[in-house]
Amino acid sequence: MLGSFFGFLLVNYLFLRAIEEKFYSDKYFFRSIYAVLLTFFTLIFCFVSNEQIHKLIYVIPVVLISLTSGSALGLISASIFGISIVWYYKSIKIDDITIILCLALLAWIVGQISQINFHYALQLENEKKFLKDLIETFSEGITICNSLSYVLLCNKQIEQIFKLNKGEIMGKAEVLLWEQCSIPYHKWMPNFMNMEAQIGDKTFLISRFTLKGPEEEENCFVTVINDITELHQQKNKMQRLVTLSAVGELAAGAAHEIRNPLTTVRGFIQLMQARWTDPKLTDLGQLALEELDRVNGIVTSMLQLARPEQAESKMLNINGIVNETWDLYTYSGMSKGIYYEKLLDETVRPFRGSDKQIKQMLLNIMQNAERACSKGDTISVRTYGDHKHTCIDIRDTGRGISPEHMEKILHPFFTTDPAGTGLGLAICNRIISDHNGTMKVTSELGVGTTFTIVFQVHRPSLSLMA
Ligand SMILES: Nc1ncnc2c1ncn2[C@@H]1O[C@H](COP(=O)(O)OP(=O)(O)OP(=O)(O)O)[C@@H](O)[C@H]1O
Ligand SMILES: [Mg+2]
Repeated sequence: MLGSFFGFLLVNYLFLRAIEEKFYSDKYFFRSIYAVLLTFFTLIFCFVSNEQIHKLIYVIPVVLISLTSGSALGLISASIFGISIVWYYKSIKIDDITIILCLALLAWIVGQISQINFHYALQLENEKKFLKDLIETFSEGITICNSLSYVLLCNKQIEQIFKLNKGEIMGKAEVLLWEQCSIPYHKWMPNFMNMEAQIGDKTFLISRFTLKGPEEEENCFVTVINDITELHQQKNKMQRLVTLSAVGELAAGAAHEIRNPLTTVRGFIQLMQARWTDPKLTDLGQLALEELDRVNGIVTSMLQLARPEQAESKMLNINGIVNETWDLYTYSGMSKGIYYEKLLDETVRPFRGSDKQIKQMLLNIMQNAERACSKGDTISVRTYGDHKHTCIDIRDTGRGISPEHMEKILHPFFTTDPAGTGLGLAICNRIISDHNGTMKVTSELGVGTTFTIVFQVHRPSLSLMA
């Protein structure tokens, strides 16, 4: 008999564990059913057994009910026990009264203790929820990890940054998350505060600090990830502008001083060439003249970069410019076996600017594309746009640009071409920004490169207002 009752208690325990969440989230329904069932089965046992000592077993349901459902239900359960004894035996012994009073006292004490416990558990739960809600409000990605570097908490920004859902992040080792980071996790400086790193195609500022727990093993690591891609681009742009203006000042100051002696030296060499009879000397003289012309070309480009010619601004049709200069752009490339194609959208809208500068910009980009291509490659020029923008794509299937070079191609004097000055794209960039346009370059090594230039469509009403 006693064995079957303890069997019942075991089933009761397993049942409670199984419905734990539901049980504690539901205030009355589940708890009342539970109290009734437990009281009922214990009463049956007490009466069937009919042993005074077995009545003490009734302590178990009273404690369990008070613990799980509070003192009120515990007291009710103790009272039902008393009423049942009176009803069953038609009398009550002094021992039974003592047992009932003890049960009632026990129900009250256990209920109170469980209430305090429940109160703290609830408070902890609320604080956890508050923390969760709080970190969701940040625009930065936040992770909180335990001392073993397992993720305890993260916000939805983290899901977007790492392109994973919370299920794939929470409870997992932090190192798995950082596999996508340009600086591998094992190379992180211990106790670093801030570092910049790439995740995918974006740049992030990663800040990390330790929340000290009472014990070393209770420390938490908070990592805040801030998207600074745009800031980074602005910084690079500013740096480029500063370099450009430094080059500009240098060029403006030096160009005049360099050009005059160059002209004199050129004149002397030509004069001497006329008197040289040795063909070796004539060849060397020719080489010297070519080098002088190259220096002169560099000085001219530097001046262009520093002070672009004040060209006349007029309404420009990008298709017209491409058509006018097409033969010039394609002539030398075609003789190398490069294919050219032209896809011009007739509906593109005009924009304001200098046709001379736009032609120069296109020529620089077309020349670069030609140099990057070999026999059988294709260079295509495509125009398109909408009511606000006029765009032109210059795409080649040439060798492409490596990511390290990509960062530098707009810097003045950066070149991979032994015969180049490295000023072509810097001048293009200057011309495009003078026309309020933007330039984007995408490239893949061995596949090709695309330059996309976007101009603002001319809107008469705006220019009238200006
Ligand atoms: N379409 C392209 N494909 C591959 N690399 C390119 C392309 N366009 C530019 N580059 C790279 O960018 C570098 C810089 O180009 P930029 O036009 O500024 O100078 P350059 O062509 O080397 O010299 P210059 O224009 O004075 O003759 C090039 O040397 C080349 O490495
Ligand atoms: Mg060039």
